Amino acid sequence: MTRHFLRDDDISPAEQAEILELALDLKANPYSRKIFQGPKTVAVIFDKTSTRTRVSFAVGISDLGGVPLIIDAQGSQMGAKESVSDTAKVLERQVAQIVWRTYAQSGLEEMAANSKVPVINALSDEYHPCQLLADLLTIKEHKGNLAGLKLVYIGDGNNMANSYLIACAMAGMHVVVVTPEKYSPAKDVVAKATQIAAATGGTVSVSHDPAAAVEGADVLATDTWVSMGQEAEKAQRVSDFAGFTIDSELLSLAKADAIVLHCLPAYRGYEISTEVLDGEQAVIWDEAENRLHAQKALMVWLDERAK
Ligand code: CP
Ligand code: NVA
Repeated sequence: MTRHFLRDDDISPAEQAEILELALDLKANPYSRKIFQGPKTVAVIFDKTSTRTRVSFAVGISDLGGVPLIIDAQGSQMGAKESVSDTAKVLERQVAQIVWRTYAQSGLEEMAANSKVPVINALSDEYHPCQLLADLLTIKEHKGNLAGLKLVYIGDGNNMANSYLIACAMAGMHVVVVTPEKYSPAKDVVAKATQIAAATGGTVSVSHDPAAAVEGADVLATDTWVSMGQEAEKAQRVSDFAGFTIDSELLSLAKADAIVLHCLPAYRGYEISTEVLDGEQAVIWDEAENRLHAQKALMVWLDERAK
């Protein structure tokens, strides 16, 4: 049966570990798998802008023997003109997989429900699961393991926060999401992550106190305070997030060997200081590169199950 990857928990914890191992193998042997030999083309659709996702999927599909078809949704009939389900029925007959960056999670669910080929979430308003595969790969490379590590995400209770909660809980990590109270992550996501953590040996908590939360942290992570689609709220958000910047002072309260993640693009001086972003503890360029290896592993894994 065709599998899709719309949320971090569309795979099991064991499958997550399997995909990360495959990603390490593909990083060491980048051109060893040519999965796209029948239907070669993979549709990569963008309703929102992107640098990393666009490049890493295009390169990854090409490395795997495929041809990336990048579609900017404004230039297609999708949206007001043609429904998601009709679009899916057209695409599934011609492409091997569908990768989509969009707004509502429900759109991705509708695409998957109408597609016999795998659908991959390349960021929605609710989740960014491909980013978390790359982040977990980066942590694994730098720390050697995932289970038992403490990851503290400081910032907005947004799509990245949701994905950190679910994916890190699946990996058996201790995940803390630190936000201003008004920007707390969705309660149902916290509840789901807590339930997952109970089975993996991880823990989940929400805090509003960055200094207290980072104590003992192995990994610090953050993301923009103003996600795509929220530009009109920028002034209010910048004011509301005062005190939630990852700077050298906050970093000094974590473990001495803590690493720092940022999915990028970064807004220097807001969610992260330039000193930390360019400092020795930041592993953000590895993290950005790992989008490529993690997504290649995901596409191989999904292809094996689509047959
Ligand atoms: N991190 C990430 O998804 O970056 P892009 O928006 O540039 O794709
Ligand atoms: N939370 C950000 C992530 C960008 C990769 C956004 O949705 O814009």
